[in-house]
Amino acid sequence: MSEVAVSAIPRLEDLEARVGDLSGKRVLVRTDFNVPLDHHDDGSVEIVDDFRIKSALPTIEWLTERGATVVTASHLGRPKGEPKPEFSMDPVRARLAELAPGVELLENLRFDPGETGNDPAFVERLVDGIDAYVNDAFGASHRSHASIVGPPQHVPSAMGRLLEKEVDVLLGLRNKPKHPFVAVLGGAKISDKLGVIEALLETVDGIIIGGAMCFTFFAAQGKPIGDSLFEPDMVDTCGELLAKAESMGKTIHLPDDITGVDATGAFATFGSRLPDGAIGYDIGPGSAAAFTDVIMDARMVFWNGPMGMFEDERFESGTRTVAQAMAGTKAFTVVGGGDSAAALAQFRLDDEVDHVSTGGGASLELLENGDLPGFEALRKGSS
Ligand code: 3PG
Ligand code: MG
Repeated sequence: MSEVAVSAIPRLEDLEARVGDLSGKRVLVRTDFNVPLDHHDDGSVEIVDDFRIKSALPTIEWLTERGATVVTASHLGRPKGEPKPEFSMDPVRARLAELAPGVELLENLRFDPGETGNDPAFVERLVDGIDAYVNDAFGASHRSHASIVGPPQHVPSAMGRLLEKEVDVLLGLRNKPKHPFVAVLGGAKISDKLGVIEALLETVDGIIIGGAMCFTFFAAQGKPIGDSLFEPDMVDTCGELLAKAESMGKTIHLPDDITGVDATGAFATFGSRLPDGAIGYDIGPGSAAAFTDVIMDARMVFWNGPMGMFEDERFESGTRTVAQAMAGTKAFTVVGGGDSAAALAQFRLDDEVDHVSTGGGASLELLENGDLPGFEALRKGSS
């Protein structure tokens, strides 16, 4: 997506210009209230992190200040097209009532198969009695689902403030990189990140690889990985990526030490060649220090995916060190949603980076393609 296309997405001000006085108008706001929940044994449910709810407040307040009646709608989890009590919006509705009293929240959109199926009849029901639509669900804008792509075909529509900010920051990385620009990628699966790695190679100076996906790269280099998790059918692809990066003069930084367990199950630190029966669960201290240096010297850093199994105290050190480097560097720092945002919050460093995206998959897809189905729908709807 070019800069021209970004400015072609209508903003809230454009919506107001088109609809006129918003007072008394019913505005459907698609939010991403897909928040992590803790289901307790006594049946109570707790929201683990309300970041996504708070992130929708600027848009909701902008609309309510103008007298609009705001109806929010979101998915929660993956209930697969039928009502399931564990995916009820009730806990979210209770939190929203504290943060934005009087704002409606519909029941989980994915209780109806029409949502993921992008069924026109479901869209019609959603926009029934609605005067305008706002997409502020950045984290779901990579899904061609009914509530994301449907309403702009029926009612005047715009992006909300959160969407606008996400677009601005993430497309800024893609289109106006400051060098050195470094991407820090972790997580288990290289297959999830392949497209974005290829796209990032065009703009970054280096890519730091941590998480279990480093073992697929090790395998491509012919190194023994013990019993560590890896993706056998991606080994050749990793080899090609290493060669491609080298031919482009870009550096792929792989860990040169690993912590995990040895064949007896005891905690151990290894080099980048793991013995038989060993399993790697985190990058080692030497790698964490080397990655810190790269992040400190950068002018722009994008991070998505933990360096190891940070939920386990023994293996949080790599992710914590990278989080601290993100907090400490003078570089412009952006963290993709999902696990890396959760890690930052766990280490209480979420206020120390420049932007924490509310979207995991969405931020990767936006970096890869420069556009998302939800944005396209907003552009088309206004033409
Ligand atoms: C997310 O948490 O990734 C978004 O809310 C999208 O959810 P989904 O991956 O189930 O479509
Ligand atoms: Mg997802």
